[in-house]
Amino acid sequence: MSDANLSLRYSQAIIARAVARLGAEISHDYKDRNPLLVGVLNGAFVFLADLIRTIEAPVEVGFVSAHSYHHTDSTGDVQTFGVQSMNVRGRHVVLVDDILDTGLTATRLMELIGQGEPASVAFCCLLDKPSRRVVPIDANYRGLIIPGEFVVGYGLDLDQRWRNLPDIYTVGQGGSSDE
Ligand code: XMP
Repeated sequence: MSDANLSLRYSQAIIARAVARLGAEISHDYKDRNPLLVGVLNGAFVFLADLIRTIEAPVEVGFVSAHSYHHTDSTGDVQTFGVQSMNVRGRHVVLVDDILDTGLTATRLMELIGQGEPASVAFCCLLDKPSRRVVPIDANYRGLIIPGEFVVGYGLDLDQRWRNLPDIYTVGQGGSSDE
């Protein structure tokens, strides 16, 4: 696919404003609770790196991995790594992902984290695509609501490409990852 198939959805300035608002909300809600922010690799690494720098309270950071997409579609089979080995007992956990789409990834991760007996679990996403949901889940903290289109940039990829773009782009209709 050529880069001409990408159209700008959110500029760096809009993303930064959304991230700052989420950081302010989390700072307010988790003051004195030393939350554990758990990023979902690979996509959330850019968002989480920016988010923690907007939080004005002590926080800790961890990562888990989840994988379920083939090209632009969820396979429905969410494979997770690193959740059960993370000690969340008694912690206030905030799961942080780049995007809430079908909801399958967040639902599975919240369920697994819950098994570790945390004091609380919340979910934060930068982008939310409510029209694509197949399981009922809402984010406790959400940055921007988008239509049901596939997006890349700011950590989000299509077949591992375009994570490095500083803005967020919609992938054009009929796109493929091949040149
Ligand atoms: P689900 O469907 O499980 O999706 O809610 C969450 C995970 O799927 C990936 N995802 C996307 N990645 N552009 C991407 O680059 C998208 O539009 C998109 N939609 C879902 C993402 O990894 C997220 O963790």
